[in-house]
Amino acid sequence: MNLILLGAPGAGKGTQAEVICDALKIPAISTGNMLRAAVKAGTEYGLKAKAAMDAGALVSDDIVIGILKDRINEPDAQNGFILDGFPRTVPQAEALDAMGVTIDKVVEIYVADEKIQQRLSGRRVCEVCGNSYHVDFKPTKVEGVCDGCGGKTVIRKDDEPATVLDRLKTYHEKTAPLKDYYAKQGKLVTVEGQEEVSETSKLTLKAIEG
Ligand code: AP5
Repeated sequence: MNLILLGAPGAGKGTQAEVICDALKIPAISTGNMLRAAVKAGTEYGLKAKAAMDAGALVSDDIVIGILKDRINEPDAQNGFILDGFPRTVPQAEALDAMGVTIDKVVEIYVADEKIQQRLSGRRVCEVCGNSYHVDFKPTKVEGVCDGCGGKTVIRKDDEPATVLDRLKTYHEKTAPLKDYYAKQGKLVTVEGQEEVSETSKLTLKAIEG
């Protein structure tokens, strides 16, 4: 099964991608994680992507389409995958169609903008392995220390309040039109993402199975 998770920054796409990955045993592919890894490694496209990411803008379609294409051709993605953060523009969705990829379902996780600031201001990520936490909703066992690898947890640079506003603006302008794109293909399902994680997970899995 090939799935897309759609939603505003901080709606819980990454959180739900992990749940689906465990349930369906298909890889979660996050272009945001791939780009952050490239920035950390200082690769050529990482250097190009950094300024846009820090400003809460989108990285160019060319770069993102290129890395996505390589990733979905890897062996572990041949029996299905969950796309988290891709596509984010209509040209990216068209590129996916042009690659001959059949998408079975697009799950939009809906969270109102007002809730996003609270979600993202409390997020902490491990600077070593990238695991994601929340100071209130998913705290680490020891404050500031990753449960997974013992690395230090930090605030993501683009989670600063002013940058979050820019990311939301970008989402509404560039990404929200994808709802229409996939609704016209009869693939869009919207789930309520404002309740606690376990409740959203139940709704997400039900939407995928239904
Ligand atoms: P990316 O990493 O994809 O960021 P994003 O879409 O802005 O999404 P987030 O990772 O911030 O949020 P999420 O929805 O995954 O929420 P999460 O589960 O972490 O992209 C970063 C940047 O890379 C972009 O701005 C862009 O520059 C670039 N980029 C990436 N892909 C691109 C593309 N295709 N094209 C161009 N540029 C691209 O949850 C958030 C927090 O809330 C966590 O702390 C979590 O624990 C908590 N939480 C989750 N669910 C709940 C709940 N139900 N209740 C309470 N707390 C919750």
